[in-house]
Amino acid sequence: MATQFAEQPRQYRTSPIAVEALKEHLALHPEEKWEHTHPYDVSRSDIYYEDRWQPIFAEMRAKGPLHWVDESPVGPYWNVVSHKAIGHVEALPELFSSSWEHGGITILNKLDEEQLAAQGRERFELPMFIAMDRPKHTDQRRTVAPAFTPAEMKRLEDDIRHRTGELLDSLPRGEVFDWVDKVSIELTTGMLAILFGFPWEDRRLLTFWSDWAGDTEIAMVRDLDEMRHEILREMAAYFQQLWAERANKEPGPDLISMMIHSPAMNQMSPQEFMGNLVLLIVGGNDTTRNTMSGIVHGFDTFPDQRKLFEENPDLIPNAVQECIRYQTPLAHMRRTCTEDTELFGEQVKAGDKLVLWYLSANRDEEVFENPDKLDITRENARRHLAFGYGIHRCVGARLAELQLRVLLEEMHARRMRVHLAGDVERVRANFVHGFRKLEVEVTGF
Ligand code: HEM
Repeated sequence: MATQFAEQPRQYRTSPIAVEALKEHLALHPEEKWEHTHPYDVSRSDIYYEDRWQPIFAEMRAKGPLHWVDESPVGPYWNVVSHKAIGHVEALPELFSSSWEHGGITILNKLDEEQLAAQGRERFELPMFIAMDRPKHTDQRRTVAPAFTPAEMKRLEDDIRHRTGELLDSLPRGEVFDWVDKVSIELTTGMLAILFGFPWEDRRLLTFWSDWAGDTEIAMVRDLDEMRHEILREMAAYFQQLWAERANKEPGPDLISMMIHSPAMNQMSPQEFMGNLVLLIVGGNDTTRNTMSGIVHGFDTFPDQRKLFEENPDLIPNAVQECIRYQTPLAHMRRTCTEDTELFGEQVKAGDKLVLWYLSANRDEEVFENPDKLDITRENARRHLAFGYGIHRCVGARLAELQLRVLLEEMHARRMRVHLAGDVERVRANFVHGFRKLEVEVTGF
């Protein structure tokens, strides 16, 4: 089956990666650049690309947990910036909805029927349980949760360790290379391929799809959004084929087979099945990848912490938590208020969009002492909100933690030190928070 796909000349193989497509588009159409005039309009991606978001959020936190932005290219919205307020909002999922019908989970608004008609476009939606409320969310989450139990993690650990070790052994020494491409992407796509039983030789498609699916700025440019939908449709067709193959086979341990043979599957439409697969690809891809890059960048920025790690491998489990806190690979999730309410002294109206900035919660000085420092001995590193909180808390958290722990353990076992040695390029987005490129050199310690 993999060969059959590999032989087909498919358009997505030659499509540019999302970030290049956007750069090219904006170079040709500079008039389409978005205007951000409000001082607290943190939907602008340049502050993440240039890594200068920290003082803006610190200023907001000092003034209060909620801030209303009345005008922005993504419409009006509330910034929710404190650890406490985000936990509070996430603990009330009926009042603060995740559902696609209300607005979904990112800062972007979906086009309404009128806008779609004006653009002569049809709606393309892949329903996912991250963007559903109870009770549907509960049922669908149940179909994938068994893939992430502690017992499953134990089953996967040897394989992850073996692949991680092999990859680390293959890295060049004394030569500059891109850590994002050679390590972060390779390990995370490889892991997802194993989890889904995805054809190994096509695994980079998972990265390609994830980049297009998770880019919030791409979705704001009509032509690129069209291209994005086209790519997602092709992805759905690929998975449909995998699904058809597995549906007629004995249940296997991979996630696709597990979902097909789960009782809740009877209540899931083919679109929902596809949507949830996409959710797992996107959820498991950029996030773990960007933490793997963040670890290297963080250790290089704080060499005292790298030294602590090198001298004391017992700190690795806590270092994993601290690196996730420090990186916070998803900058935000969004909720929509369903009823007028008062929230931390502010009047929030039904229909208002609330953007929960995990990036800010994880630097909240009320919870984390000296929050802008990476500190792998931090006692409460586990209190980070990078995985969210409440009923939608990341279902893949254990798998991400396992991959990151094994990476650090295997680096330590090889006495590997990774230095920044060239270009550092961050992701230009307000949703995915991470690195596009990280040129490094490996030495020993
Ligand atoms: C949900 C972060 C890794 C699959 C989420 C949410 C966040 C998040 C912030 C939403 C929480 C909320 O709304 O309260 C992360 C981070 C990761 C990571 C930081 C890595 C460091 C993974 C992995 C997978 C995964 C490895 C699976 C392969 C999901 C799914 C959901 C989710 C399916 C939806 C859960 C629900 O709505 O009930 N993740 N994630 N994530 N994540 Fe992750």
